Amino acid sequence: MADTIVAPSILSADFAAMGEAVKTLQRQHADWVHCDVMDGAFVPNITFGMPMVKALRRNTELPLDVHLMIERPERYAAEFIKSGADIVTFHPEASRDPHKLLAEIRELGAKCGVVLNPDVAVSEAEPFLDSCDVVMLMGVFPGFGGQKFIRDVLPKLEELRRLRGNRKFLIELDGGVTLDNAREIVLAGADVLVAGSCVFSSPDPEQTIASLQHIASDRA
Ligand code: DX5
Ligand code: ZN
Repeated sequence: MADTIVAPSILSADFAAMGEAVKTLQRQHADWVHCDVMDGAFVPNITFGMPMVKALRRNTELPLDVHLMIERPERYAAEFIKSGADIVTFHPEASRDPHKLLAEIRELGAKCGVVLNPDVAVSEAEPFLDSCDVVMLMGVFPGFGGQKFIRDVLPKLEELRRLRGNRKFLIELDGGVTLDNAREIVLAGADVLVAGSCVFSSPDPEQTIASLQHIASDRA
């Protein structure tokens, strides 16, 4: 069984030293860099936009996994891709036409996906499953790092894996991942783990990333 893909979230990095943070993540063998874009409207916090993604792009070759927590993501998706985003995910309820946006992201050469908040049923993603490279389930309500994982999301991961059938999309879990719960999250169905505070507050981030990558490598 392949290792778990680990995407550290730079929301928990030092905002005054982002270039160094992504260079370090690359040296530490992270798989992707998770970039949390918040607009202060869709979520009650504001982070950064395209200029930051562009600057990160100059500092790492790791895939940039851009999570748009913004209203009407169709307004900016193309600019994020132009700035260097490799994967663009968004919350379908924020978009006027999620199908059109998924197609547009792919046409522009990036991978695309929808994100479901903890209180959104997996069935809401069903209409999009044929058009996604990634489907991401939130393990917390978006807006802030360091929150506690909502365990009700575990059966949703199992349901999504069942629904996937032969489709090829990756299942990503974002929010509340720790070394203590990562194994059950992966066993429930996650192929990709976003990990913010767990990596950045670790005394040994490289070891934490490696542990998350191998946390269920013994599974059948
Ligand atoms: C939450 C963000 C997450 C967050 C994860 O709004 O989308 O990506 O940074 O942080 P942790 O791993 O600390 O829960
Ligand atoms: Zn995120």
